[in-house]
Amino acid sequence: MFGFEEILAKELRKLGGMNIEQGVRSVSFEGDTGFMYKANLCLRTAIKIVKPIHSFNVLNEDDLYNKIYAFDWSEYLSPDTTFAIDTTINSENFTHSLYVSQKVKDAIVDKFRDTDGERPNVDIKFPDIRINIHIQKDHCNVALDTSGRSLHQRGYKTATNIAPINEVLAAGILLLSGWDGQSDFLDPMCGSGTLLIEAAMIACNIPVNINRKEFAFEKWPDYDEELFEKIVDSCLNKTREFHFKIAGYDKAPSAIRKAQDNIDNANLAEYIKVGQFNFFETEKSMENHLHIVFNPPYGERLNIEMEEFYKNIGDTLKQHYPGTDAWLITSNLEALKFVGLRPSRKIKVFNSHLESRFVKYNIYSGSKKAKYNKEQ
Ligand SMILES: C[S@@+](CC[C@H](N)C(=O)[O-])C[C@H]1O[C@@H](n2cnc3c(N)ncnc32)[C@H](O)[C@@H]1O
Repeated sequence: MFGFEEILAKELRKLGGMNIEQGVRSVSFEGDTGFMYKANLCLRTAIKIVKPIHSFNVLNEDDLYNKIYAFDWSEYLSPDTTFAIDTTINSENFTHSLYVSQKVKDAIVDKFRDTDGERPNVDIKFPDIRINIHIQKDHCNVALDTSGRSLHQRGYKTATNIAPINEVLAAGILLLSGWDGQSDFLDPMCGSGTLLIEAAMIACNIPVNINRKEFAFEKWPDYDEELFEKIVDSCLNKTREFHFKIAGYDKAPSAIRKAQDNIDNANLAEYIKVGQFNFFETEKSMENHLHIVFNPPYGERLNIEMEEFYKNIGDTLKQHYPGTDAWLITSNLEALKFVGLRPSRKIKVFNSHLESRFVKYNIYSGSKKAKYNKEQ
């Protein structure tokens, strides 16, 4: 995700990846098969992990067909595996990604027909092998998708009508905020509980995709189930105890029910407590230093209600939450001004396509009136 490359690189370093290099909206690394399993299981801020298998310069569609045809696909595919192709292009020579996918498919199918007399079939929804084609100017990278469905689908969320924050974004902003499980934590507008669950997983060092039903690599011909189980066990052995409290409030009873379901699905009920409260009528109940991260409603545009709402956020923090590092993410940049506190950090991020700000307010203890942190 834009803005989270450094966080992802840091996660990879911690996990033991090698030759880690940050790109734009991507990070590359090297590791063995076991590390590929571990990366899928543990990386909190990766959306997908792909394994490059081939790359070449390409002039036009015929050239693409010939080079894909010439490649030895037998290591990855056989006539009885199904496959799908995803293409992204950023090139003047190629304009239609669907057409490129079609060309690549034809080349693979023709190659098998010519060599084996039989061909693998396409299955767009549940393929055995998903192939990624990325054409950048005149260069084509061919990779295997090791993850399958986006890694934000952790497996703990039941269907919801609330617009929840994407799990990868939630983990990313928590890590950006410096959350490491060394204090109490509150999401005062928790909705379906995404930030609470991701925060608890970080605090306890739980592999984030432990509840996920499947990864694409499980369908690969060389899948080593024993190795994967060993990796799962060794990651679970590295979980740590958490001695603070994680709490979530929401004024909507339906949100609290949904959050509780998700917390139960993630087996985190012993760490997270949720309650139906209007944040503006609460005060800091915890003795310890408090770390707040939340995404308040942002409204479509600024109106009196939004002005009032964001002003209430500022007033509540200032008057009732001394000793708190409060972070919030919003795409309503106008409404943000009405919080009325000077942010000590302001980071540009994207919430899907919406440009947003992730801002920090230091609310000091020791004085009734919060002192503002003057650094920008
Ligand atoms: C953008 S959603 C949060 C989504 C959440 N992060 C998730 O992953 O599901 C904002 C939430 O704030 C709640 N909310 C709005 N005003 C509130 C208030 N005064 N006190 C507590 N919750 C409030 C809404 O009910 C809604 O669930």
